[in-house]
Amino acid sequence: MKTIAPEEVKRQMAYANQVKELFTTAPKALVITYGCQQNENDSELICGMLAAMGYTFTEDKSEADLILYNTCAVREGAELRVLGNIGALVHEKRRRPGLIVGICGCMMQQEHMVKTIRSKYKHVSLVFGTHTLHQLPQLLFEAITGQNRVFSVEDSEGVIVEDIPVYRKGDPKAWVSVMYGCNNFCTYCIVPYVRGRERSRDPERVLEEVRELVASGVTEITLLGQNVNAYGKDLKGDIDFADLLRQVNEVEGLRRIRFMTSHPKDMSERLIQAMADCEKVMPQLHLPFQAGSNEILRVMNRRYTKESYLELVQRVRDKIPNISLTSDVIVGFPNETEEDFCETLDVLSKVRFDSVFSFIYSKRTGTPAAVMDDATTDEEKHKRFDRLLDLQNTISREINDACLGETYEVLTEGESKTDSNMLTGRTPAGKIVNFPKEEGITVGSYVTVKIDKTNTWSLMGTVVKKEG
Ligand code: SAH
Ligand code: SF4
Ligand code: F3S
Repeated sequence: MKTIAPEEVKRQMAYANQVKELFTTAPKALVITYGCQQNENDSELICGMLAAMGYTFTEDKSEADLILYNTCAVREGAELRVLGNIGALVHEKRRRPGLIVGICGCMMQQEHMVKTIRSKYKHVSLVFGTHTLHQLPQLLFEAITGQNRVFSVEDSEGVIVEDIPVYRKGDPKAWVSVMYGCNNFCTYCIVPYVRGRERSRDPERVLEEVRELVASGVTEITLLGQNVNAYGKDLKGDIDFADLLRQVNEVEGLRRIRFMTSHPKDMSERLIQAMADCEKVMPQLHLPFQAGSNEILRVMNRRYTKESYLELVQRVRDKIPNISLTSDVIVGFPNETEEDFCETLDVLSKVRFDSVFSFIYSKRTGTPAAVMDDATTDEEKHKRFDRLLDLQNTISREINDACLGETYEVLTEGESKTDSNMLTGRTPAGKIVNFPKEEGITVGSYVTVKIDKTNTWSLMGTVVKKEG
């Protein structure tokens, strides 16, 4: 797999300096990110490059010199929202012709979308895809100094880029990508088409990044990949995700490790054992099952059955009894029948996930499922979706209610979004806990919290012990 040559990264950083020299006062950028953690992580690289170009960051569109949308293509809703927001910027661009409006990310890996932007969104002057992200300094230089709109979209198997500066907000937790792309081609999913083939980073580079993060004060990391447990399959050395977890677990000063997303078909015994053995790996597993019906699973190309999934869950629970399980589910895949849907509900009842992310099936141009006929009405799909939510909310609530009176170690992440007198953080299982502010507790502090109130989505408690 192609790792971008260090010379090319250096050439881009030279462009970054050239961009810097174009301005007498620091320009301002607003980067808006949609989609998954992989995209959030890409935006950290984008912001790292922008900072190297002298940009500072703003939340205010009216004062930004650059507004860049890092987009997601996984469902139609996300795409429509982006297009709506970009359309609305036409007036801002008219008012300030020097404003650069840019779009990047997964939507820009789709030919028809790039065409739409070219022909209908003429105020957009910078477009690049997921495989050309590292070219941002050069592209931005051309967009600022040139007369033409700049498009850099490549259909590629994908690349690995190292040594791009990363901009992080100073949170106590951070994401570290360990692999990119996906080879699974689930028939509903656009990700393999917009993110390229599976490619793993060199384990030494992963460990180096983790060590640097720990040195900068980070204590919790989440290892990222679309299919993280396929890590290493494309590497020459004999290393898999279980080995990588064990190595990351050895990093001194690191306290918590999480990872996502795991595909059930790649959930090996070795990995389950590594999770059980590594004290820093948190008792949490995101294991999307997507559908309960074996026929739907087959047509989805998921390569497991309902029975093998349930058996896998049992094996995980045998080794890690306190594990918190979460999942993704699709409702209304083409021709899903009432019986098929009941199988999905049955998996929810049997597994009792802590929480589930559920989505109504969204047709993605270019995927095999997009051309399957579908007799189920939208109304029926929405009804099923509501039934699924009702069931899962009841289960989530029951699981959270059982936390009442328990104490958990919580990593303080910041102020609660809904109450400025409260702090918020997560338990080892990943549950959100809110607790009153107290002297000596700052972002990054580990505290022990006793739960005195429960909700469906979060817990509330009182600090019973502080560290240090
Ligand atoms: N690689 C991960 C995540 C992929 S995208 C995985 O395999 O689980 C995140 C979730 O979006 C998926 O798990 C799936 O539930 C959902 N999703 C993907 N494509 C979709 C589509 N066309 N319509 C609705 N939901 C979709
Ligand atoms: Fe999409 Fe399937 Fe790959 Fe996940 S595993 S990204 S759902 S193709
Ligand atoms: Fe969306 Fe791209 Fe992630 S399509 S889910 S942002 S990989």
